[in-house]
Amino acid sequence: MKHYSVLLKESLDLLAIKSDGVYVDGTLGLGGHSLKILERLDTGHLYAFDKDMEAMELAKKRLKEFSNITYIHDDFANMADHLPCKVDGILLDLGVSSLQFDERARGFSYRFDARLDMRMDQSQKLDAYTIVNSYSSDELTRIFKDYGEEPFAKKIAQKILENRPIETTGELVEVIKSALPNKVLSQKGHPAKRVFQALRIAVNGELNSLEQFLANCDGLLNEKGRVVIISFQSLEDRLVKRHFKKLSTDQSDRQIPLAISDIKRPSFRLLTKKGIKASEGELDENLRSHSAILRAIEKVES
Ligand SMILES: C[S@@+](CC[C@H](N)C(=O)[O-])C[C@H]1O[C@@H](n2cnc3c(N)ncnc32)[C@H](O)[C@@H]1O
Repeated sequence: MKHYSVLLKESLDLLAIKSDGVYVDGTLGLGGHSLKILERLDTGHLYAFDKDMEAMELAKKRLKEFSNITYIHDDFANMADHLPCKVDGILLDLGVSSLQFDERARGFSYRFDARLDMRMDQSQKLDAYTIVNSYSSDELTRIFKDYGEEPFAKKIAQKILENRPIETTGELVEVIKSALPNKVLSQKGHPAKRVFQALRIAVNGELNSLEQFLANCDGLLNEKGRVVIISFQSLEDRLVKRHFKKLSTDQSDRQIPLAISDIKRPSFRLLTKKGIKASEGELDENLRSHSAILRAIEKVES
């Protein structure tokens, strides 16, 4: 399997790795970014998180020559429970890995027919089958609207209820198609893309994890510590952009005259005024990089 790590050079440059620093890869995947971090470390250490045990086992094999890495099978939202000290940099390369997307049995893709699954963490109970076959029409409509920005959310939810039980990704694609007008079916792009994205986000609680991480990241970092995040869809990127802006701007209420001691200085400095996108060269090589956008912040000295 060909595996690319998206925005590899750009993300590593922005992490500004110190050879004796402590770093976190919150989304180890197949270890592409972790490998490059480890190559830059000397006495430093890397903590690597992933919810997917299968990916973690493959990454462990790939990175077996390194002893200064600790593997943690948990959601990156729970980082604070595992880190023994503050760190100098945290990387999140969000979304699914090529392993998850290309492996038929994981049920992430509309390209293959497989049981509806989509769990990153295979020990988790909730899967796409449960959502598709037991959630109410209103709940499904909300998921497709909020996480997929699907304009035909309600119609698709109704069709799903009429066709239960729906066992496989292939069956779900047919049900989605039956809910869409011909005009939409003839447009570019797969007709099930938005619903599949929405289900994946709901199964894995992806936006909740990201929000929880962003709310807590200040407390995890040393001074001058950096957070670098690569997003693949607009909902994630909007969350990152909004939180980074909040952390890097003065939050005091400008309407009220404040004593000097009351002025709340921003705790972070924005390193990317505009999100960074993949270069022409990377876009040619790697389809997945087309939707990638990278943003970074640095904790300021107090
Ligand atoms: C895009 S891949 C990372 C690829 C990796 N940077 C590389 O170069 O090989 C994303 C990985 O993050 C994991 N993941 C996504 N959300 C997570 C979360 N909230 N907590 C822990 N792992 C997560 C997925 O299971 C997947 O393996």
